[in-house]
Amino acid sequence: MTPDATYSVRLQPINAELTVTAGTPLRDVLFDQGVEFPCGGNGRCRGCKVRVLSGDVPVNAAQTEHLRPQELAAGWRLACQCKVEDNLAIELRQWDATILANDAVFEFTPSEGLGVAIDVGTTTVVAQLLDLATGQVLGVKTALNPQARHGGDVMSRIQFAVAENGQATLVQAIRHEVGRLIHLLFGTSGADTSRLRRVALVGNTVMHHLFCDIDLEPLSRYPFEPVADGLQTRTGGDLGWDVPADTVVQFLPCLGSFVGSDILAGILATGLHESTVPAGLIDLGTNGEIVLTDGKQMLCASAAAGPAFEGARIAAGMRASTGAIWKVTARDGELHCEVLGNVEPRGVCGSGLVDAIAALLHTGKLKATGRLTDRASSVALAPGVDLTQNDVRQVQLAKGAVAAGLRILMERLGITEDALTTLYLAGAFGNYVDRQSARTIGLLKMPLDRVHPVGNTALLGAKIALFSPEEADGGYRQIRERMAHVSLNEDPRFQDVYVEEMSFAGA
Ligand code: FES
Repeated sequence: MTPDATYSVRLQPINAELTVTAGTPLRDVLFDQGVEFPCGGNGRCRGCKVRVLSGDVPVNAAQTEHLRPQELAAGWRLACQCKVEDNLAIELRQWDATILANDAVFEFTPSEGLGVAIDVGTTTVVAQLLDLATGQVLGVKTALNPQARHGGDVMSRIQFAVAENGQATLVQAIRHEVGRLIHLLFGTSGADTSRLRRVALVGNTVMHHLFCDIDLEPLSRYPFEPVADGLQTRTGGDLGWDVPADTVVQFLPCLGSFVGSDILAGILATGLHESTVPAGLIDLGTNGEIVLTDGKQMLCASAAAGPAFEGARIAAGMRASTGAIWKVTARDGELHCEVLGNVEPRGVCGSGLVDAIAALLHTGKLKATGRLTDRASSVALAPGVDLTQNDVRQVQLAKGAVAAGLRILMERLGITEDALTTLYLAGAFGNYVDRQSARTIGLLKMPLDRVHPVGNTALLGAKIALFSPEEADGGYRQIRERMAHVSLNEDPRFQDVYVEEMSFAGA
């Protein structure tokens, strides 16, 4: 292998071809394509199974431990446990639409035509083209949300929309981008646009309002109550897209002020609403959204965690993409970093931050109060990538808000961590975060075997919606009726619990 050798990786069934530096972990290649690694790439869940159609991916010990001999012989590998060392063509099991986040299979009634499921994130938009008869994924496209030039988080979008009269600009930007992604999906897959029947979108409350052009002003002031947060239906013709005019376009309903349909989708994808025992779901993005059930009631809340877990407001912070330090361990008192994409480190993402804090606590370079020892103002993680005292404070605020939110909801339901049978961790952060590190810094307190990373449940939930049109009203209404939204800021105990939970004293 020459140092800069490259190989091609062809992804089926979407027929995308990528050029990759030799030796790059397959996980890093696929993560950028929206593929999820439910156990954080630790080789435990089999959720990242791929079938090698051509090229050589040697069988290693991790593969033989988790895959049966027949599977290995048929070309199946765990993507998180191999590197690209040949020209490859691979097929992803995950793009089989019948697999849920908890590895169960969901049933759907086949119907004619094609559909598109879309996760409208504050930062990224992900769209999948699906065959409604077979559930096959025919194409995947991702793009940055073009609204980001008017603010990186939902609060700055609200500010731009309301104070700077920018609502129309934001509405136009996202509608145009989604239309463009749909156009690209058809262009690259070769599918016939006239076969498009349905588009299902999910996103947080602000994305919901902006896509549907619902006034954001009520979300800019107390009591932050949305005016219309239900299921919204438009047509392809309404939106001026290059698709059949009668294409049904639905944005799924929100659950509360700042708890959107991305969380409703997470509930659908994990089956949380069917749990008869205490269980929960946390999605750590720009906000920390939490849903908890005691088996009867459901409560949801949005903890103003700030964007630290997405790498924002961190001096060397970045999203979980090529060049990000995603894992940090302490060995012999020294920090060791792993970087996504097999390249020089460019910054640190949320999971790397949590690891780094845990490692600094282990090595005694950080106190549980959040103060770096020896009055240091920063610590070097890798050449050119430092963690500053202010970064530590940002993580402390984020961690405190989420842990306090979880505790308040548990108190309201009268349950303890011991009673919580399952906690699903959604989103990219949940995918990569080391659960032991999360426990070490006190973000999570329950036993590790109850914490399950579940990947992009927002997109999975959008797919379920696409395949269950009859659920479009009744199913969601039932969940919405059972759900109570808790406004954490109005809880008299929140400030005290928040201050207590800012400590990094974990397990
Ligand atoms: S086995 Fe690869 S992500 Fe879980």
